[in-house]
Amino acid sequence: MTIKIFDVETGKDINKKIEELKVDFKEEELEKEHYMLKEILEQPETIKKAIEQDEKKLIETVMEVLRAKNVIFTACGTARYAAIVGRYLFSKIAKKFSDVIMAHEFQYFTESVDKDTLVIAISQSGETADVLEGLKKAKERGAKIVAITNSENSSLDRISDKTFFLNCGPEIAVASTKAFTSQLVVLYLLAFAMINKSQEEKIKLKEIGDKVEETISQNNELIKKFAEKLKDKKDFYFIARGIDFAIASEGALKLKELSYAHAEGMPAGELKHGTLSLIEEGTPIVTICPKDYTYEETLNNIQEAKSRGGFIIGVSDEGNEIFDSLLKIPKVEEIFYPLLTVIPLQLFAYHLAVAKGNNPDKPRNLAKSVTVK
Ligand code: M6R
Repeated sequence: MTIKIFDVETGKDINKKIEELKVDFKEEELEKEHYMLKEILEQPETIKKAIEQDEKKLIETVMEVLRAKNVIFTACGTARYAAIVGRYLFSKIAKKFSDVIMAHEFQYFTESVDKDTLVIAISQSGETADVLEGLKKAKERGAKIVAITNSENSSLDRISDKTFFLNCGPEIAVASTKAFTSQLVVLYLLAFAMINKSQEEKIKLKEIGDKVEETISQNNELIKKFAEKLKDKKDFYFIARGIDFAIASEGALKLKELSYAHAEGMPAGELKHGTLSLIEEGTPIVTICPKDYTYEETLNNIQEAKSRGGFIIGVSDEGNEIFDSLLKIPKVEEIFYPLLTVIPLQLFAYHLAVAKGNNPDKPRNLAKSVTVK
């Protein structure tokens, strides 16, 4: 087969080396069920694979992170929610401040980027045009680029000074699931490496893989029934505090892209600044509320929604009478909750899409990889 690459505007040939991608998946496996469900169920294993990062590379990278005057995460969609978890982890674990800028807005901040800036770009595909565009500008201004991606030889891999691969195998469903939890694992490792603890925490992360399995088996059937009950609802709100605010936002994104219902994720403290006016009798409020440093305050916010008639769905390791329904997760060390709380939300979005007769693998109007600006 001959492949010719040319400039569409000038018609001139472009000389490019053709790289063959190593994609390892078995056709027959992919024919059963939906890819999305298959990818959700793979997570106990893919989390373990993401842990297999080179220790030397981790240490070298975090030395740069610690040295940098500004650390900026850039990404879109689900990858951006992983970045927000990363921001909390860097601060909580390593006391390192960072910021998250949506990739398509990053170009408007590049004036303040210089050689003392480290940019961490997260992208499953490594081909998201908005991510690449901002990075090119940051690179021109001398910034160092670290990539977290699933795609070897992708444009992101090639533009970056260092790349961490997710090792989770191809993600086929448009909705990102296993890539998200693998991105989180790499971010945990970077945060722990900053305090010299990546080796010992790798063991704990492996155990979290097993807890993900438990979370799936405890919730899958329950959520399937639950989705049937809620399939006609038009609006969903997802709330949480602290690190789980990113998970609330991710849950809302997953739900809206697959079920075509309106869904918003927000910090629970923000409810009373506007959204409370939208809560009516029966409005579903999904609250990510593990028994951690945010628990008590989140309960206060839930009370505000409940007293306006909200139907409260709790995602927690601790039951509470305020929840109308509980999606239970196992108890773990509090820093690791995001790897578990996201699982019921992925299953919820999946089953809701199926209950509504939508194809969860190919939601309307969306592409797996957004290569145009
Ligand atoms: O390939 P990327 O990680 O750069 O993609 C970014 C977003 O387009 C992507 O995460 C999108 O939000 C997903 N479809 C969400 O499930």
